[in-house]
Amino acid sequence: MPPAAKTPPPSTASPPAPRKILVTSALPYANGPIHLGHLVEYIQTDIWARFQRMRGHTAYYVCADDAHGTPIMLKAEDEGVTPAQLIERFGREHRRDFDAFLISFDNYHSTHSPENRHFSELIYTRLKEGGHIVRRTITQLYDPQKNMFLPDRFIRGTCPVCGAAAQYGDNCEACGGTYSPTDLSDPVSVVSGSQPEERESEQLFFKLGDFRDFLAEWLGAGHTQTEIANKQKELFAQELFEWDISRNAPYWGFEIPGEEGKYFYVWMDAPIGYLASFQNLCAREGLDFDEFMQPGSDCELHHFIGKDIARFHTLFWPAQLHGAGFRAPTAVWCHGFLTVSGQKMSKRHGTFITAETYLRHLNPEYLRYYFAAKLGDGIDDLDLNLDDFKARVNADLVGKLVNIASRCASFIGRYFDGRLSDALPAPDMLREFAAAGDAVAADYESRRYSKAVRRIMALADRANQYVDAAKPWVLIKDPARHDEVQAICTQGLNLFRVLAIYLKPVLPATVARAETFLNLPPQQWRDAGEALTGGAIADYAPLLTRIDAKAVEAMIEDSKTETAAETVDAETVAAETVTPETVTVATAMKTAIESIEPIEPLSAQITFDEFAKVDLRIAKIIDAQTVEGADKLLRLRLDLGDGEREVLAGIKSAYAPEELTGRLTVVVANLAPRKMRFGVSEGMLLAAGPGGPDIFLLTPAPGATPGMRVK
Ligand code: 2FM
Ligand code: ZN
Repeated sequence: MPPAAKTPPPSTASPPAPRKILVTSALPYANGPIHLGHLVEYIQTDIWARFQRMRGHTAYYVCADDAHGTPIMLKAEDEGVTPAQLIERFGREHRRDFDAFLISFDNYHSTHSPENRHFSELIYTRLKEGGHIVRRTITQLYDPQKNMFLPDRFIRGTCPVCGAAAQYGDNCEACGGTYSPTDLSDPVSVVSGSQPEERESEQLFFKLGDFRDFLAEWLGAGHTQTEIANKQKELFAQELFEWDISRNAPYWGFEIPGEEGKYFYVWMDAPIGYLASFQNLCAREGLDFDEFMQPGSDCELHHFIGKDIARFHTLFWPAQLHGAGFRAPTAVWCHGFLTVSGQKMSKRHGTFITAETYLRHLNPEYLRYYFAAKLGDGIDDLDLNLDDFKARVNADLVGKLVNIASRCASFIGRYFDGRLSDALPAPDMLREFAAAGDAVAADYESRRYSKAVRRIMALADRANQYVDAAKPWVLIKDPARHDEVQAICTQGLNLFRVLAIYLKPVLPATVARAETFLNLPPQQWRDAGEALTGGAIADYAPLLTRIDAKAVEAMIEDSKTETAAETVDAETVAAETVTPETVTVATAMKTAIESIEPIEPLSAQITFDEFAKVDLRIAKIIDAQTVEGADKLLRLRLDLGDGEREVLAGIKSAYAPEELTGRLTVVVANLAPRKMRFGVSEGMLLAAGPGGPDIFLLTPAPGATPGMRVK
């Protein structure tokens, strides 16, 4: 087959000067699967890295699993494996999913690695030598049953600001208040269900205040989005500007040099994982780490992250780097969160979709394209509307892009033995397409991918209009006009090729297939300026097929099923890891945390004010009797401090009346009396559990007395 000949290139802008770029995405925790929410960022970063490489720059894209911290330690314990085994399994799954989504990491490593230990110790030691580490004695909540200090997220209690129950130790989802876990009025350890105690311990703090001027300048110099920079500057108003970087044993991480039983907090060594992964790549490929990381380096360092972790990346991390004698990041680019059909991802609605589930049903490039079509340079949330997803992918990719190639290639193959014409009938049009490359490139460079996609699709419309107007299917009926058909289709394939080059950062696999049928080597950005004439193309193979609505539905159903299986696991774990006396509160708390999904709007929402009307009181069961003729009910007489009430409770399957007499529990005291078949019930008992023998009445904390209000 003769090689594809090329005519002299039309005019195009001069190529940009080569840059050396190190690119990262945030490191996913090694205790859960990759889901579509994660993929917004990996796809965003991957498009940017691939684009830079196509422009002729050197771009190394590195990442790793974030493998330390208490949640990983506890999850491993729950699963009966070592933390090392747990992170190994998730590491493998993460790599598999990223590969499938065509994320082009140059290296994927782990924070639990020798390189990360080295850099964590080095950075810490340098900060300490620089006088930037200070010791402080602090009071923290300690779980006396698990013998461990509790991270904020493992404590639940009543919000000290608004009184909402079961709030996390650091902030309240009801009122948005932030506080310290020791401020909660009735804290409970989510790990064991026990009441935590306050204990003092000495911790190591990084004196961020030493870097006030440096950070003010860095934040003011356009290294991150303005709204992110402004938010961080608010923190400068705080007088005491220190960050606790140590945690007490037991902890899964790196022990701090010179300290016994103290470990680096996971957020101290996580971003250092970027350096560790890059160092690992440098050692393997003989690259110069220092060239990228020394102060004043000409190379660029770009971090892509979610807006929720901006503080770690735009305050702590630049200060860590600068204080330890490394260069600061060129940029920290934040993105928003993913919603699915306007809502937070929901396990119950099947919209909490893992990468693995998605891949069982749909082509990863559909999602890459859809995210690209919606991503801008800001921090707004991005919505995956599943109807729009189908419509857009089908209309743009199949209806517009692939349509040009399939129509033109079929004529070239069928009537011209795969040969392209020697000249183009509309060379100016190709020049215009090539000239648009600078604007498309500027959009990719500035992460305005949605604009890039709009421009490319506008060109696709023009290419289709060209073919429609030329009507090769009419001309082919006249043998005298076959040359024209060959030229029209060659023109169409040239236009398609430019579009394919522009979309290559988004659709690398589809464009690789296009390169194959067009007999082209891997295309670079500058190749858009060259015409493809006179050579031969290979047989056309379909590039992409339409999204089938059934595949989307099946994916949602699959996600619901998986969630049901997970919930059972969570409950089994809860039952196994708590002792009988703590099972009531612990199960209720764990079930609340894992199944209520506070992020998801419920079908019948109530306002906080409505919820606050519920009057929960401690009650003493002074008598319990079976109810004649009733299978499930017990008749209870309760002392609520201000008098007695009778309540009919459906707990007979779990409790014998004699077990109940004398014990304290929690009731809804202001429920209007309800007339039931067996009498009037004047309140409702609170219990948790799946039913049958597994119903657990709530047990109040020691010291509770009848009538006491439960906030
Ligand atoms: O928020 C998270 O998922 C963290 N694992 C991100 C860490 S990014 C970097 F600092 F390592
Ligand atoms: Zn609150």
